[in-house]
Amino acid sequence: MNYYNAIAKGYNELYGEEQLEKFEIIKNELVGRVLDIGCGTGIITKKIENAVGIDNSWKMLKQFDGERILGDAHNLPFKNKTFDTALSLTVLQDLKNPSKALKEMKRIARKVVFSIQKRNWTEQKIKKMLKKSDLKGSLFEGKKDWFFIQK
Ligand SMILES: C[S@@+](CC[C@H](N)C(=O)[O-])C[C@H]1O[C@@H](n2cnc3c(N)ncnc32)[C@H](O)[C@@H]1O
Repeated sequence: MNYYNAIAKGYNELYGEEQLEKFEIIKNELVGRVLDIGCGTGIITKKIENAVGIDNSWKMLKQFDGERILGDAHNLPFKNKTFDTALSLTVLQDLKNPSKALKEMKRIARKVVFSIQKRNWTEQKIKKMLKKSDLKGSLFEGKKDWFFIQK
């Protein structure tokens, strides 16, 4: 069973506080209609005024009663520039092809904002991925994640 399906019920208790702290860091960067990619239980999505959540774990997603879609970050089911902001908090580190997911975020939105777990990801490695995805902006270090905001 997928890790997030297995921990879905306890996710908010286990990680909620930590994720809300991360949200505080980037919340003022979110503009307009937002797609929250890998939204999980929607603990962050529901804090955003105009947001849709997408996740590939139904067990996580079913705990969210807002606008939600079951889908894969590598192939977002939206036309180019459907959203103003593509947000992804602590998701890219789990993906098979994070560069592909970043390119998808860039395709469907005007602005990309993400965080990625520091474990296994150095600043150099992220910069390489950003270059590959042709994304420019500010990259800075938080307690557990790196944060990126497209400029
Ligand atoms: C650490 S959780 C973060 C959840 C949410 N962003 C938050 O801040 O609470 C990672 C989430 O990414 C989702 N995920 C993993 N691989 C995915 C994929 N390929 N497409 C969509 N979501 C994915 C997982 O199901 C999980 O809900």
